[in-house]
Amino acid sequence: MKNTVLAIAAAGLVSFGMAAQAGDVNAGKAAYGTCMGCHGGAGEGGVGPAVKGRDAAQLAGLLKKYRAGEQVGPMTALMAPMAASLSDADIANLSAYMASLK
Ligand code: HEC
Repeated sequence: MKNTVLAIAAAGLVSFGMAAQAGDVNAGKAAYGTCMGCHGGAGEGGVGPAVKGRDAAQLAGLLKKYRAGEQVGPMTALMAPMAASLSDADIANLSAYMASLK
């Protein structure tokens, strides 16, 4: 019973991510390793803002602004270098993962 519930929950997370941006939650999770130091292991925030459970399209839009070198918030200088080398697929995957965090 417990396993069934977990399987349904996992399937729900994956389909949520896919629906949002066609991002791959598992690939995003792997890539998120470099983000944890500032955004927290569960996206709860730290040096940077909380990113968990937010709209994937909105997160992706913000990452594209940082990548393009646009000023977003007062601490853009800390974040922009992190986004500079991300591909569109990286951004979709990372956004799907962050959106899936509870
Ligand atoms: C050196 C610390 C640091 C690292 C590492 C880092 N970030 Fe950030 N991040 C920040 C800070 C600080 C901000 C807020 C910047 C500003 O004021 O615009 C931010 C902002 C963001 C935002 C916008 C949030 C909002 O509400 O405006 C997103 C999304 C984000 N980061 C995702 C990521 C991802 C994905 C990674 C890993 C690829 C990452 N960050 C790595 C520090 C970091």
